Amino acid sequence: MTTLTINGQTHEVDAPDNMPLLWAIRDLVGFTGTKYGCGRGLCGACTVHLDGQATRSCITPLSAVGDREITTIEAIADDPTGASVQQAWRELDVVQCGYCQSGQIMSATALLQGNPAPDDSAIDGAMSGNICRCATYVRIRAAIHQAAASLGQEVS
Ligand code: FES
Ligand code: FES
Repeated sequence: MTTLTINGQTHEVDAPDNMPLLWAIRDLVGFTGTKYGCGRGLCGACTVHLDGQATRSCITPLSAVGDREITTIEAIADDPTGASVQQAWRELDVVQCGYCQSGQIMSATALLQGNPAPDDSAIDGAMSGNICRCATYVRIRAAIHQAAASLGQEVS
């Protein structure tokens, strides 16, 4: 058995050590907001946070998780930065089909947690591994700027 801490709660999963974390999150624990895209670390749809770091869960075996805290899209609004990102996403109507968007929000939140005022090049660098087939990139960038501004206003 492997113990995973997901969104503040522990879960015991009966799975081999080499099972990708994404499988455990979705199929064993039941958080289906994290998506499967490529399964090879290339698209970002499966992005979760491990101790706040944006991580591709499709290529992270359970054996590599250790005791790190896993956060998924289901709990990102519990974090003030995540909540601001989600609000900006709603206000700017970022989403089209939606499939990539939980990964986009997880990456955007990790970016703003580490860099509260990223410029366009920092945004593009942090988000370059998150692919959107609907090409929502311009609105994603705008929403990250809006979330950063709203977080700045909240602390001033
Ligand atoms: S499903 Fe993990 S990076 Fe594409
Ligand atoms: S919104 Fe459709 S793939 Fe990104």
